[in-house]
Amino acid sequence: MLNIAVFASGRGSNFEALQRAILSKKIPAQIVVVISNNSQSGVLALARTFSLNALHISQRQFQNEEAFNQKILETLRSYNVDLIVLAGYMKKLDRSIIRAFSNRIINIHPALLPKFGGEGMYGMHVHEAVIEAKEKYSGATVHIVDEEYDHGKILLQDIVAVDANETPESLAAKVLKIEHRILPEVVQLIAEDKLNK
Ligand code: GRF
Repeated sequence: MLNIAVFASGRGSNFEALQRAILSKKIPAQIVVVISNNSQSGVLALARTFSLNALHISQRQFQNEEAFNQKILETLRSYNVDLIVLAGYMKKLDRSIIRAFSNRIINIHPALLPKFGGEGMYGMHVHEAVIEAKEKYSGATVHIVDEEYDHGKILLQDIVAVDANETPESLAAKVLKIEHRILPEVVQLIAEDKLNK
């Protein structure tokens, strides 16, 4: 059984898609903890509706970054976490965590990396940039997290067409549907040890 920690800062629709897939497709995995840096985030409330452990861990609760990172590492160890899933986590993970979980952290990004990634490329900014660049296609990417933003090995992508009258909002909605499909798919591949390494 693969023990998963989900990190998220917002509404948590990707978390929910993953949790529902785990339950319905009998993926040999379980979300052992959901961690958010935002106490008001929808994801924490949502996680509790599934009776999952949902923790608010924010830098503001600690005297310095090191103590904050230490708390995260301790928490991950205490839940025997095998895989970290970043699902809209709006904070860069410290390299101490990335090193401790090398190749065991994945992220979902709402565009076709390596395009439209990097610092500042999150949320609606991504979709605005795609439309601005007159791209014909966009999509979503699940990738391994390394020490650079949106940079690690790409595991799975899927595409959508950008229509002539597309708005950032309409594009976000189309891309989100793909996200909800490919994130659980990658987790399933990892849980079943079917991912080519
Ligand atoms: C998604 O678009 C994801 O790609 C990005 O943050 C958003 C999170 O949405 N990294 P949600 O909280 O899962 O609904």
